[in-house]
Amino acid sequence: MICCVQVLLRVKPSVNSLYLDVSGSSVEQKIYIELKNTVPCVRLLNATHQIGCQSSISGDTGVLHVLETEADLDWILSTGPHPPYMVLMEATFFTRPTMMRMKNSTRVAGVAVINSNTTAVESFSPHTSCPNQNTGVYREDYGPDLANCSSTVWNPLGNSMSYEDFTFPIFSLKDDNQTQVMRKCYEDHNMRVNGSAPQYPLCAMQLFSHMHAVTDTVTCMRRAEVCDPLSDFNVWASIRPINASAKGHKNNESVVIAAARLDGRSFFWDIGTSAEGTVSGIVTLLAAAHALYPVTQEAPPVRNIFFTFFQGETFDYIGSSRMVYDMKQDKFVINLDNVHSVLEIGQVCTTTFPLFQVINLVDNIKSVASTLNVSLDEPNTTQALPPSSFQRFLRVQPIPGVVLADHKSSFINRYYESLYDTAAYLNMTYPSDLSPEEQMEYETEASKSLTEVATLVARSLYKQAGGNDRLLINITADAKMVSLHMLLYGFLVRSNNSWFITLPSLLSPESGPPQYYIGLRQDNSVKSVTRFVQFVMANATGTVTSLNQIQCQNPNDVPGESKDLYSYHWVSGPPSANSTEGDPYCVRTSVRLAKALSPAFELPEYGSREYSTWTESRWKTIRARIFLVASPQLEVMVLLGFRCRLDEV
Ligand SMILES: *[C@@H]1O[C@H](CO)[C@@H](O)[C@H](O)[C@H]1NC(C)=O
Ligand SMILES: *[C@@H]1O[C@H](CO)[C@@H](O)[C@H](O)[C@H]1NC(C)=O
Ligand SMILES: *[C@@H]1O[C@H](CO)[C@@H](O)[C@H](O)[C@H]1NC(C)=O
Ligand SMILES: *[C@@H]1O[C@H](CO)[C@@H](O)[C@H](O)[C@H]1NC(C)=O
Ligand SMILES: *[C@@H]1O[C@H](CO)[C@@H](O)[C@H](O)[C@H]1NC(C)=O
Ligand SMILES: *[C@@H]1O[C@H](CO)[C@@H](O)[C@H](O)[C@H]1NC(C)=O
Ligand SMILES: *[C@@H]1O[C@H](CO)[C@@H](O)[C@H](O)[C@H]1NC(C)=O
Ligand SMILES: *[C@@H]1O[C@H](CO)[C@@H](O)[C@H](O)[C@H]1NC(C)=O
Ligand SMILES: *[C@@H]1O[C@H](CO)[C@@H](O)[C@H](O)[C@H]1NC(C)=O
Repeated sequence: MICCVQVLLRVKPSVNSLYLDVSGSSVEQKIYIELKNTVPCVRLLNATHQIGCQSSISGDTGVLHVLETEADLDWILSTGPHPPYMVLMEATFFTRPTMMRMKNSTRVAGVAVINSNTTAVESFSPHTSCPNQNTGVYREDYGPDLANCSSTVWNPLGNSMSYEDFTFPIFSLKDDNQTQVMRKCYEDHNMRVNGSAPQYPLCAMQLFSHMHAVTDTVTCMRRAEVCDPLSDFNVWASIRPINASAKGHKNNESVVIAAARLDGRSFFWDIGTSAEGTVSGIVTLLAAAHALYPVTQEAPPVRNIFFTFFQGETFDYIGSSRMVYDMKQDKFVINLDNVHSVLEIGQVCTTTFPLFQVINLVDNIKSVASTLNVSLDEPNTTQALPPSSFQRFLRVQPIPGVVLADHKSSFINRYYESLYDTAAYLNMTYPSDLSPEEQMEYETEASKSLTEVATLVARSLYKQAGGNDRLLINITADAKMVSLHMLLYGFLVRSNNSWFITLPSLLSPESGPPQYYIGLRQDNSVKSVTRFVQFVMANATGTVTSLNQIQCQNPNDVPGESKDLYSYHWVSGPPSANSTEGDPYCVRTSVRLAKALSPAFELPEYGSREYSTWTESRWKTIRARIFLVASPQLEVMVLLGFRCRLDEV
């Protein structure tokens, strides 16, 4: 038995020799296989509830059972002789009915869901059917007949699983070799043989995701260091600079707000792919800003155009409620009386999409659309607005506005706020022989149709801001520099692409898309979508200056420059033909960050019904591992007859 360990230590960790068969019996040494790439469901709290998942403080353990058939479910929930079970399942079984049966059973110790790219689930939305139901504009004093989605259930596929409180841990696992190891462990030890129960030793799994916070936000905020408000930053910019050091009403400033949201979520902690749900709107607005910028500098429209990307909208409109609150308190660079109108971009993915709500803005957009390859449709006037940041403006003041979306009534999106709302769902597939750089340059159907939408948005904004009609034709979302397919690629497929990495020198993106879950912004995460949008926006609407690095940090010393009006970024610049290092330079931009922390935590009113009260519990350990147990007391033993793994010994 000891020799097994010695043999293992001499084995090089190459793919084929990573695992070695172990023979013999009654080995006392503990051997665990730690599982990598796991993402837990964590506990979130609001004014009145806790939702999510947790394990006990020392982790929850159970005999592993792979859920593949209805009979397996029966085994887990009633007939199997070795409860509690740790359930390993493919995503197709991760449904509300199954999860609720497990929730109501004492025989389930936890669940691990295999998140594979190839699993095609017809539809899945763990979000609610009426998102942000209580924090939008419709309530007793405003359109009570439209409250609670009474006119339209926006997300009819929503099963609210993300809002359940599970008493056991639930993890997402990447589908890779380790799931094969788990299956093998299960097959070798836990499979029923001709209907009879398997014998010890059995393969077991242990999940650690103990959460410090309990009950609700009011309770956890009273105790130090157990939960934190969800918070990050909104990103805003304007085509004419606004003095950011002067707060409150600005005479002579009338702005058309162009808005999109930044965040999304899924059932699992920081996975939130949100391709149609969020990214479609982000890239459309970024491309529109880029298309608009040159024309607005040459022929400024009468009104200013104010771009804003709101964070935390998924969680009862954190970002927009904060900006509106700050505007109302004269703590923002403009106030509500400076707002002329609002154009918000919601989910926009197919080319036929209707327009929502009100006023002559619609006529402007219609007249622009008639010149483009975009068909517009207007919903009935009695229809409510879909969940949108604009509702938070309407909640305090009547302001004209529209929400652009690809759905006339209920969402078209079949994967709203789930981990399947991905690039693949938008049919963003690339010929397999393309290199990453070629993929970035490759135009997909999604990028073509969003480019049309971006042009529509850009021209409508210019027209709405009182720009010269004859120049509209010059505003076209670009197929060149900041092309929409590059944006889509960067935001949905790979953020460490050759373009993004040149933006600010401080940005060091990781593989994969940015993070769309709002998080706590404590680690100033370089993965956060906020930073990507900030820097892409700076690129799209900024000016390259001749300031050197020191001047870039202290531009106030340079005549003509002002930190009140602009922010300054030192950017690495694109690599030149004969050098991988870029030529760095200083970019002057109006792009700024503004706190996206709910006013409930400023006031503070942790029990607020007006503002978002969502907090995230703190935790110490997130871990998952499998091992063999020798007895019903779950005594740990070596993975007998199975394979022990080199780096665990
Ligand atoms: C808190 O969340 C729960 C679960 O989604 C919901 O039922 C409840 O209404 C929310 N409370 C408030 C005050 O919004
Ligand atoms: C997983 O297994 C396959 C086939 O055995 C192998 O090609 C691949 O490199 C392995 N991946 C990792 C991460 O070990
Ligand atoms: C299962 O049952 C079949 C037929 O009854 C028998 O041939 C087979 O040997 C059994 N397998 C085991 C492992 O007992
Ligand atoms: C911006 O506003 C502040 C406060 O009103 C003022 O002191 C400053 O001079 C202004 N800056 C510019 C460039 O106008
Ligand atoms: C508008 O609403 C009416 C009454 O509910 C309905 O008959 C009509 O079909 C709706 N029109 C559209 C375009 O949806
Ligand atoms: C993706 O392609 C399928 C099949 O061609 C089509 O039905 C679907 O509408 C497309 N999705 C989008 C978002 O364009
Ligand atoms: C960035 O992307 C390349 C693929 O082009 C990959 O090889 C590399 O590991 C990635 N870097 C990081 C830090 O993720
Ligand atoms: C934006 O990025 C492109 C490509 O790297 C670069 O050529 C351009 O100068 C950048 N513009 C600004 C204002 O940073
Ligand atoms: C890069 O190449 C250009 C022209 O090919 C040349 O003028 C320049 O000096 C080169 N730069 C470096 C750092 O070698």
